[in-house]
Amino acid sequence: MIVGAKMNLMPITNRPTVSVANRVSHFSYAIRNIVDEAKNVEARGLRVRYMNVGDPVAYGFQSPPHLIEAVERALRDGYNGYAPSAGVIQARDAVAEDYTKRGMAVTADRVLITTGTSEGIELVLTALVDEGDEVLVPVPTYPLYTAVIAKLGAGAKYYRTDPNQDWMPDLDHLRSLITPRTRVLVVVDPNNPTGAVYPTHIRRALIDIAEEYGLVIVADEVYSEVAHDGPVPLLGTLDNDAPIISLSSLSKAYLAPGWRTGWMVVGSNSRLDNVLVAMKRLADARLCSPGPMQHAVVAALQGDQSHLDEFRSALTERARLTIECLSAIPAMSCVPPRAAFYAMPSLALPPGRTDEDFVLNLLRETGILCVYGSGFGMAPEAGCFRVVFLASPQELTMTYNDIAAFTEHYLEKA
Ligand SMILES: Cc1ncc(COP(=O)(O)O)c(C=O)c1O
Repeated sequence: MIVGAKMNLMPITNRPTVSVANRVSHFSYAIRNIVDEAKNVEARGLRVRYMNVGDPVAYGFQSPPHLIEAVERALRDGYNGYAPSAGVIQARDAVAEDYTKRGMAVTADRVLITTGTSEGIELVLTALVDEGDEVLVPVPTYPLYTAVIAKLGAGAKYYRTDPNQDWMPDLDHLRSLITPRTRVLVVVDPNNPTGAVYPTHIRRALIDIAEEYGLVIVADEVYSEVAHDGPVPLLGTLDNDAPIISLSSLSKAYLAPGWRTGWMVVGSNSRLDNVLVAMKRLADARLCSPGPMQHAVVAALQGDQSHLDEFRSALTERARLTIECLSAIPAMSCVPPRAAFYAMPSLALPPGRTDEDFVLNLLRETGILCVYGSGFGMAPEAGCFRVVFLASPQELTMTYNDIAAFTEHYLEKA
């Protein structure tokens, strides 16, 4: 007793710092991590122009009113308790119907409602990948994949996508990375951060490779409705029997990223049954994704979708403007994005400079916040950075003019 009492008197400053798990050192998410530096810039009094996060609502796009009404109604109708772990049946039915209508036939028991695509990524990789297993991930990559793989103690194997081929996957490179420990092929199509949309022969080849090596495809299809020329078919429509688990959400096409509501659809072939059972077990342990928002899934997939045409045409205009302005900058090149709201330009950097150096200097001098390509797994000397082109055309024009002036100055100084 007395000893314990003495220990409690120990001055707080003498207590050792609590250590954190090693896995955190492998976990980073540049898209948000870079905001710390933006806050420093703001503290100096410079306005920061945030071009780092793919959130349409932050740029003035509005969630469709009938989705908001569906959530309001659910709240008022008393759907405020825990939802079933796999999601409310109305939402699961709506997703199954939507996929079936679009050509990937599934039943509602193969649908899970998740806390955004992000939770789908975590659930599917946790269910499939043991420590030491390997996952094929495109590079540049959406960084959550790398972060989750690191957390699981698995290995990310990056297959190249090639800016000289419109950011198409390099299939030979992909094949060369496959080992007996490879379990999963991640396909992000349409792609963040490149805005690429893969043609049918590439998609077909990805399925064939997965079949040849016994891999499961995690198809991240969160941008399939916001391809600029109209919705992209789901990967599973090419082969309903392929080992595909498709992920999507309300975040992008349905303009409600803050609701954290998404879904995962497990292809109907019975060889995926164990994976479905495993994911349901994992889902049970986290109780459920937010209940009231799940009611908006029905409204989104079965109600009025006219906002999609408007959104796509706004994106098409901004993509055109982005290419026009960025391609006019000497030493800069950019593949035209064909989907979503991202472009990945690259700057021919002076020797010894990195993408992070360019992006941080751009931020500190102009307040423009982009994300460096190495945050997406690109080589730092490749000079890539990602822009989010959701701001108004006027704001974008000013921003691109400022990027042009800064770049000229940055290259001259080097
Ligand atoms: C390719 C990709 N997958 C998943 C996500 C996460 O989306 P959600 O908001 O549905 O979790 C994003 C978000 O930017 C993304 O770009």
